[in-house]
Amino acid sequence: MKFSAIAVFSAITGMVAATPQYRPTTTYPTVSNPWAPGYSSPVQPTGPKVTCLTTDTANTLIKGFASLLTNYNNATAGALLASDFTDTSDSINQLAGYPIGSTTFPSKQAFQLGQGSQPKIDFTVLSVDEVTCTNVAFRWSAGVGKKLFPIKGINSFVASNLNGTDQGWQLKTMYSEFNSLGWFLNVGGQIIPPSS
Ligand SMILES: *[C@@H]1O[C@H](CO)[C@@H](O)[C@H](O)[C@H]1NC(C)=O
Ligand SMILES: *[C@@H]1O[C@H](CO)[C@@H](O)[C@H](O)[C@H]1NC(C)=O
Repeated sequence: MKFSAIAVFSAITGMVAATPQYRPTTTYPTVSNPWAPGYSSPVQPTGPKVTCLTTDTANTLIKGFASLLTNYNNATAGALLASDFTDTSDSINQLAGYPIGSTTFPSKQAFQLGQGSQPKIDFTVLSVDEVTCTNVAFRWSAGVGKKLFPIKGINSFVASNLNGTDQGWQLKTMYSEFNSLGWFLNVGGQIIPPSS
């Protein structure tokens, strides 16, 4: 029996010599979808591919969105909003002086810049009225500025999924309308009613 240097080293140290590592000759595609060919990740999905929201995953998205209004965090926004996120609201357009009918925040970055610089508000979800496969409708009430009036609103959003797991849900398209006149008065606006 011959003794190789590695065998003697292993015998002395009790260590097993490492398997030689070879450079792969194939270039694997970079993919984020675990069901795509070539996907490799330390986090492997368990269970079947998720294609529909549940009450729980819908609530997680609503809570995340609410947190951006009550206590904005840019990293939370980065994780919560899909890369093609848009937010459309004539209530906000009117308050902000944006063109009526336009997409209020046409990109994720626009939302991060716009919402990130807003004063904090109190935000209470009154009811989650509908959760379908990818769409959610909920109603809310907010305490804004001088809180002369509680502001009620209705949001509806479309969610998309990054990687087919319950953790992969993001907000893709948000629609929001609310009592913008009450908001305007709460933040010190003044109104001259039309003369009769
Ligand atoms: C917020 O995050 C985005 C990326 O998601 C980045 O472009 C932007 O600079 C960040 N803003 C601040 C104020 O950190
Ligand atoms: C799916 O995406 C979420 C959010 O980025 C991440 O937390 C989770 O680990 C991902 N799951 C897999 C299996 O890649």
